[in-house]
Amino acid sequence: MQLAGKTALITGAAQGIGRAFAQAYIAEGARVAIADINIGKARETADELGASALAIAMDVTDPESISQAVGQTISELGQIDILINNAALFTAAPIVEIDRDAYQQVFDINVAGTLFTMQAVARHMIARGKGGKIINMASQAGRRGEPLVAVYCASKAAVISLTQSAGLDLIKHGINVNAISPGVVDGAHWDGVDAFFARYENKAPGQKKQEVGAAVPYGRMGTPGDLTGMAVFLASDAADYIVAQTYNVDGGQWMS
Ligand SMILES: NC(=O)c1ccc[n+]([C@@H]2O[C@H](COP(=O)([O-])OP(=O)(O)OC[C@H]3O[C@@H](n4cnc5c(N)ncnc54)[C@H](O)[C@@H]3O)[C@@H](O)[C@H]2O)c1
Repeated sequence: MQLAGKTALITGAAQGIGRAFAQAYIAEGARVAIADINIGKARETADELGASALAIAMDVTDPESISQAVGQTISELGQIDILINNAALFTAAPIVEIDRDAYQQVFDINVAGTLFTMQAVARHMIARGKGGKIINMASQAGRRGEPLVAVYCASKAAVISLTQSAGLDLIKHGINVNAISPGVVDGAHWDGVDAFFARYENKAPGQKKQEVGAAVPYGRMGTPGDLTGMAVFLASDAADYIVAQTYNVDGGQWMS
């Protein structure tokens, strides 16, 4: 049990990758706050994951909600040892069609949400004096631009940069900040991506998924379960000397 006695707050954990992280952490002995804007789904997930899971309503774009969710996690679970900034929104459009509101929404969730949730939890970790682990969800989209995905790519490049700055700033408090950069992971997120590409590249539904899966060196799209080993490792004591890094867990898509 690599995370026995630890507690984690995972944003966007009602479904997909965040849910898989919660399940893996619980299997390693942690208690987990399943924080999500979709509280109905978060409750369902917490019920499925059992007594070590707690559903928390949280909108990472709202400072009041961040403060409330962090406070509730601490009061119900005792402390926060691990934070995963996992909540995010995908959007796609050609440069000439990018809508300012869509841009703002993606940056509010993916960038400001990551920064200010990290800030709120880091304040708690510093006051507690026992360090902690913060993991941000980046993406291969943050490693380079893509023709139809400018806003999402830029938001994930910002997550990689925030991870570096926060990692260097917070390690003096014993707080390790690192990131995971997945490639293409099947699930609701990619159903949305597939639908965007069906519209903008005139593809049949499911065709983009099939193409990206075939292009992964490993030979298929990832699953949420492919990412849990890295998430457990980065939250464990074994990762104490790892600072400000972003790890590709993508079947060989990206090398850096
Ligand atoms: N799926 C992929 O291929 C892929 C690839 C690279 C990176 N990622 C990253 O991994 C993470 C998880 O991806 P996923 O595929 O599980 O996504 P998903 O869309 O399935 O789940 C995202 C979750 O975030 C929640 N959420 C959205 N806005 C929120 C808000 N304002 N406050 C709180 N919660 C909010 C949603 O309700 C949902 O439960 C994201 O950061 C994503 O960018 C995913």
